[in-house]
Amino acid sequence: MARILVLNGPNLNLLGTREPGVYGTTTLADIERRVRTEARRLGCQVRFQQHNGEKELIEALHMAMGWADAVVFNPAAYTHTSVALRDAISATRLPVVEVHLSNIHAREPFRRHSLTAEVAVGLVSGFGPQGYLLGLQAALAHLTTRPARPQPARGARRRRSTVS
Ligand code: DQA
Repeated sequence: MARILVLNGPNLNLLGTREPGVYGTTTLADIERRVRTEARRLGCQVRFQQHNGEKELIEALHMAMGWADAVVFNPAAYTHTSVALRDAISATRLPVVEVHLSNIHAREPFRRHSLTAEVAVGLVSGFGPQGYLLGLQAALAHLTTRPARPQPARGARRRRSTVS
């Protein structure tokens, strides 16, 4: 059974009352409930977390290396600023599907660039809470369809380093 970490960045704990004109009135607890229902339907296991700090988010990605097969990640404002989170995604080599409630490309210019999406498998942006379910589906589709790691040809010798 695939294991997916659903990770949320700063201020997403305030969903429901935070800028409802942009983010709607669904709370993070509602999103978690919907994600868990979808995970049951899809037959995968999820852990759902939210952290306001960059350090905690980095540590959650490090911890995920020992547990998760993929991560559905809304890095919130860190999307646009955090080299450290981008490096953490690259370092863990976990497939990450980035999710945003709003369409970051239809907002202020500073939101149009995502440092983290550049190292993610893909991006879901602009579908509100439904984006998390799409992100979960995309993560699972990625896990089942990604090409297997190339295996060395049978009988092929390991190349030795040579010293001259
Ligand atoms: C967000 C978009 C970010 O630009 C913003 O800083 C957020 C939420 C979204 O889900 O639409 O906090 O990630």
